[in-house]
Amino acid sequence: MPGNIENNIINDMDDIVVSVRDIHVVLGGRTILKDINFDLKRGETLAVMGLSGAGKSTLLRCILGLLKPASGEIYVLGKQISKLNGKGWDDLRKNIGMVFQYPALFDSLTIMENVGFGLIEHSKMPIEEIRKLVSEKLATVDLIGTEDMYPNELSGGMQKRASFARAVITNPHIILYDEPTTGLDPIMLTVIDNLIKEIKKETSASAIIVTHDIKTASAVADKIAMIYEGRIIEIGEVSKVMQSDNPVVRQFMEGSTTGPIKV
Ligand SMILES: Nc1ncnc2c1ncn2[C@@H]1O[C@H](COP(=O)(O)OP(=O)(O)OP(=O)(O)O)[C@@H](O)[C@H]1O
Ligand SMILES: [Mg+2]
Repeated sequence: MPGNIENNIINDMDDIVVSVRDIHVVLGGRTILKDINFDLKRGETLAVMGLSGAGKSTLLRCILGLLKPASGEIYVLGKQISKLNGKGWDDLRKNIGMVFQYPALFDSLTIMENVGFGLIEHSKMPIEEIRKLVSEKLATVDLIGTEDMYPNELSGGMQKRASFARAVITNPHIILYDEPTTGLDPIMLTVIDNLIKEIKKETSASAIIVTHDIKTASAVADKIAMIYEGRIIEIGEVSKVMQSDNPVVRQFMEGSTTGPIKV
């Protein structure tokens, strides 16, 4: 349950960047998420785990305001997002970087236009300056010289790295990653894990990372939340969740075909 809350006012909001309070999400007449409560603290990285279809991407979409919960409230950087108007969202989204599950990039735009998208759309920065900044960010993800290429000219791993550059270009306070390592080879997976750690160290941004990958979760996260049948069944420090007695959590961590999760 969210901690620092009294009479529905967050009294140390400085320390809490995302507060999800009792949200229920219904899609196509089906309840996808229920009783979802958690706080993300400043500088903290939370890994959200769960089976395919558990509602992990749905949760990120709610935090980004792309989807409206049937009930409950979400606060992002002190703002009650259901109350935001267009301008409020524009201001807030500048502070949120997102690495989408798929497609990671816009096919019809060059890498420069993709990575600079947030600045081209939402700032008055001259294009030469944006281009310079894009080149700097591309260098940090080992993609020097790809500015004028199109996404389909890059490998999957390179596209992922370009989407990281795009997510951090506005120096966001919060970064949301949706399965950043899915579909990558084991070496690229380690490269991406290291990149997430570097971003964390350099920007001290808070992050939510949706991942199936236990290695990624333990490498980059401070806490893990496990979603099962629409609810958070376990949330806490990585080591605590890894040693959970909950049979569902155990089965997921061990990748076992026997247990309460029917395969
Ligand atoms: N627009 C929609 N209309 C109806 N149902 C939807 C919609 N979007 C998602 N769903 C359903 O919501 C559930 C959760 O989907 P979601 O994409 O959040 O899962 P996920 O945990 O991210 O899965 P994965 O690990 O496969 O990405 C799924 O059963 C999905 O079919
Ligand atoms: Mg998903």
